[in-house]
Amino acid sequence: MKIIFLGPPGAGKGTQAQLICKKYNIPHISTGDILREALKNRTLIGLEAKTYMEKGELVPDDVMNKVVTLRLEEPDCSRGFILDGYPRTKNQAVKLNEGLSRKSIKIDFVFYFETSTEKIIARLSGRRICKNCQAVYHNINMPPKKEGLCDICDGALYQRPDDNEQTIKNRLEVYLAATKPVEEYYQNRRELIRVNGDLQAEELFEILNKIFEDREF
Ligand code: AP5
Repeated sequence: MKIIFLGPPGAGKGTQAQLICKKYNIPHISTGDILREALKNRTLIGLEAKTYMEKGELVPDDVMNKVVTLRLEEPDCSRGFILDGYPRTKNQAVKLNEGLSRKSIKIDFVFYFETSTEKIIARLSGRRICKNCQAVYHNINMPPKKEGLCDICDGALYQRPDDNEQTIKNRLEVYLAATKPVEEYYQNRRELIRVNGDLQAEELFEILNKIFEDREF
C-alpha cells in the first residue's frame, strides 16, 4: 500500500501514519523526522536544514528530492510506504511523480487532511514527542500514562522547537503559499481523497481503514 498524506502542520498526519504503519507493517517516511534525525547526527543535510526548520521555512527542493529518492530505494519500501510531509511544493510533486513513473510505481491513495486553524494551533502547542522512538502525544488530547514519559519505550518527551507560536504562524503561511498548490496538483489528477482532520484520531483512523478495506487492502 503506497500512500501520500497532505495537509497543514498539526493536521494529525504523523499520528495517523504511526497507526496505519503499525497495522499494515509499512514504513512511515516523515521528511520532518528524517531531517530532525540528520540534525541530531550533525550530518551535512541536517545542518543545512536547521536554519530553515527553526524559522518554519521549507528546506530547498533539490535537498528534499534527493533525501526522498534515496529513502524510497531502501528495501523496506517494496512493501509499501506512507509519505508524510512530502511532496510539499509543486516541484517536489512533479519530481516524485517522474521518479515513481520511471519505476512503474503507482501511488494507491493521496489523502488530504482538512483541518481548522483553531485545531491546528491547539494541537501544535500541546504536542510532545518521544526523544527515543518519535511517538507523538498531546498534553491534553493524547497524554502519556506517566507524565513526561513515552508509553511505548519510557523515553523522555520533548516539545519541538518549531512548535512555538511565532514559528507555527510562519509554518501556516508557508503552507498556504507553497503547499496548497500540491493539493491542487493531486486534485487536478483526480487522485485526492479529502478527509476530516478535525475528527478525533480514533474516528479518523476508522474512516481510513474503511477506505482501505473497500479497496481490498
Ligand atoms: P514536519 O515534521 O513535516 O512538520 P509539519 O508538516 O509542520 O507537520 P507536523 O509534524 O507539525 O504535523 P502532523 O500533521 O504530523 O501532526 P501530528 O500528527 O504530529 O516538518 C518540519 C519542518 O521540516 C518544516 O517546517 C520544514 O522546514 C522541513 N521539511 C519537512 N519536509 C519538507 C519538505 N518536503 N520540503 C521542505 N521542507 C521540509 O499531530 C499534532 C498534535 O496533535 C499531536 O500532539 C497529536 O497528539 C495531536 N493530534 C493529532 N491528531 C489528533 C486528533 N485527530 N485529535 C486530537 N489531537 C490530535
